[in-house]
Amino acid sequence: MCGIIGYVGEEHALPHLLEGLRTLEYRGYDSVGVTVSLGGEEPLLTVKTKGKLRELTEKLKTHPAAADGRCGIGHTRWATHGAPDDKNAHPHTTRHLSLVHNGIIENDAELRAELREAGISLLSDTDTEAAAWLLDRLYADSRDPVDALFRTAERLRGSYAFAVIFKDRPEVIYAMRRDSPLIVARGAQGCALASDVPALLRHSRACARLPEDTVAILRRDGIHAVNRRGFAVSLPTEEVAWDTEQAQKGGYAHFMRKEIDEQPDALRRTLSPRIRDGLPHFSLPSLDTDRIRRVRSLRMIACGTAMHAGLVGKRLIEQLARLPVQVEIASEFRYRDPLLDPAGELCVFLSQSGETADTLAALRHARAAGVPTLAIVNVVGSSVAREADEVLYTLAGPEIAVASTKAYSVQCALLTLLALRLALVNGRMTEEAVRACVRSLCEDVPAAVTATLAMSDRIAALVPPLAACEHLYFIGRGIDADLCTEGSLKLKEISYIHSEAYPAGELKHGTISLIEEGTPVLALMTDPSLSAKTLTAIREVRARGAHVLTVTTAALADALSLSAENVLLLPAIPSAAALPAPFALFPAACALQLLAYHTALARGCHIDQPRNLAKSVTVE
Ligand code: M6R
Repeated sequence: MCGIIGYVGEEHALPHLLEGLRTLEYRGYDSVGVTVSLGGEEPLLTVKTKGKLRELTEKLKTHPAAADGRCGIGHTRWATHGAPDDKNAHPHTTRHLSLVHNGIIENDAELRAELREAGISLLSDTDTEAAAWLLDRLYADSRDPVDALFRTAERLRGSYAFAVIFKDRPEVIYAMRRDSPLIVARGAQGCALASDVPALLRHSRACARLPEDTVAILRRDGIHAVNRRGFAVSLPTEEVAWDTEQAQKGGYAHFMRKEIDEQPDALRRTLSPRIRDGLPHFSLPSLDTDRIRRVRSLRMIACGTAMHAGLVGKRLIEQLARLPVQVEIASEFRYRDPLLDPAGELCVFLSQSGETADTLAALRHARAAGVPTLAIVNVVGSSVAREADEVLYTLAGPEIAVASTKAYSVQCALLTLLALRLALVNGRMTEEAVRACVRSLCEDVPAAVTATLAMSDRIAALVPPLAACEHLYFIGRGIDADLCTEGSLKLKEISYIHSEAYPAGELKHGTISLIEEGTPVLALMTDPSLSAKTLTAIREVRARGAHVLTVTTAALADALSLSAENVLLLPAIPSAAALPAPFALFPAACALQLLAYHTALARGCHIDQPRNLAKSVTVE
C-alpha cells in the first residue's frame, strides 16, 4: 500500500530517496517523508509532511543539511491509522531509531497501552509508531538490531515491511517483512531497498525479494541477510526483464493512458508463449490433460478489476468448456467458510500486483484446505505468485496507474486461452474450432484493440455530457453485463462519478425508478444473441427520459437499424459470427477504459493517483 525506499552508498542519499519516492508515489500519496543519516550529535534528520512529494521538496529547502547524508530511508503513505497529516507521516523517530512501515499492525491498541504504562507518550495516531517504540525498547535492552527486530516480530500481529536506521549505526539500514513486499538491490554506487521493483531499477536490474523471517542488513558495500538463528540467508537475484523506460511515462501525460495504449503489445506478449501448433499450450502440471479431466469445477478469486476479469473467465469457461465456475470476492471468500472440493476443484487467483492482502489470504485459505491453486499474476516473484501451487504470468509489463487497464485485458486473454484448453480436453470443441479461436485471439483481437485506440478522439468527443453528470448507469446483458462492471469501476475510481453497472434485464426490478429526464445511461451491446433484449431495455429507459449512449458493433447497429446519433461503433472482429468466443469483449473493454480516461480528464481529476486509493492494496 505505502511506498518504502532506502539507500546507503557512496553518493548522497537524498536524490535517490526522492527519485525512489517519485516512482513509488502510486502506492500511496497522502503524506511523505525521509530520514537521512548525518552523523554527529543528532545523527538522524527526519523531514516529513502531509501531501505529495512536491510538498516534501519544498520543506526540505529549509533543511539543507539533508542533502549531505549518504544513508537514508523514505516513505510515501496511504493512511490506515490516523489522518494523513504531518505527525502521522513516516518515518517515525524514537530515542534510538527511525523507521518506515508498510502494512497494518493489528495489535497496536495493546502495544500502545503497554507503552503508555511504561511512560512513553506517542506523538502520532499510527500503528507504526507503536511498533517503532516496541523495537526501540527491545533495542535499548540488547543493543543488537537483529535480535531486537526478531523480538519485535514475535510481538506483532498483522503485516509489515520495515526499514530502520538506528541512531548509533547511522550508516546501516535494517529491513524485515511479513505479508508485505520488500525488494533489495546492489548497484555500482551503493545498496537500496524498496517496496516495489521500479524504484530500484536506477540502481540495478538484478533485484532480490527479501524472504519472510529474515533481517536484511544493507551497508555501503553490500547486503546480507540472516535468519532468527543468526545464519546467513541467501538472497537470489532475479533479472528484471523490463527497463526504467517501460516504467516511466514515455511522453504520455498519464500512466493510465500509456498503459491503455500498450494493450495490443501486452496481449501479444502474454498469448504467444502459450500457443503451440496453433493450440493453447501451458507447461503446467495442473493443466495437463489428465489433471484437467479430473476438474469438476473452478473458482476465480480476486478483488476489484481482477475479480471482474474473473467474471469474464467464468462466462467463457462455462460457455466453451461447460464446467461450472464460481467467482469470489477474495475478502468475502476467506471469511465465509466456503464449501471447497479439494479433489475436483481448481482455484484460480487473479492479481496484477500479486500482493493484494485479501487475495493472498484467500489463497492461503484454499491451500490450507488442500485445494489445487493456480495464480494468474503480473508481477514476477510476488507473494501470490510464489505461494500458489502454480503460476501463469500475464506479461503486461509494469502497470503503474492505480486504475488497472492492460492487466485486465491480459487476464481476460489468458482466461480465454484457458477456457479453450479446457474445452478441447473435455471434447466440447474440436481442434479446428479451437485453432480458429486462437488465431482470432492472437491476430484479430490485438488489431481490433489497436483500431479502438485510434478512436480515442471520437470517444473524447462523446464525453462532455458524461463529464457533467454525477450519476451514470451502465447496462448490458451476458458478457456485456460483465464488461459493464469493469467500465463502471473504471469510471468511478478516476472521475468520481457515481455509477452502477446493471444487467439490462434486471433494471425493471427496481433500479429503473431512478431513471428520469436526462439520466445518462451507457448501454453496451456486443453480444448478438442478446442484442434484441438489450435494445428493449434501451427503449424502456429512453421512454423514461434517459440520455443513452450505445456502444455496439457496426453489424449489430445495422441489424437493429440504430441511428448514428449517440452510438459508438466498435471495430469489428473478422469472422466474429463464426466464432463461439465473444471476442468483441476486448475492443469493448478498451473503449470503456478510454471513456473513463477522457471523462476524468475533462473533470480535471488526478488520473494516475485518484483520491483515497493506492495501486497495491496490501492491507485487509
Ligand atoms: O493487484 P490486484 O490485481 O490484486 O489488485 C486488485 C484490485 O485492488 C485492483 O484491481 C483495483 O480494483 C484497481 N484499482 C482497479 O482499477
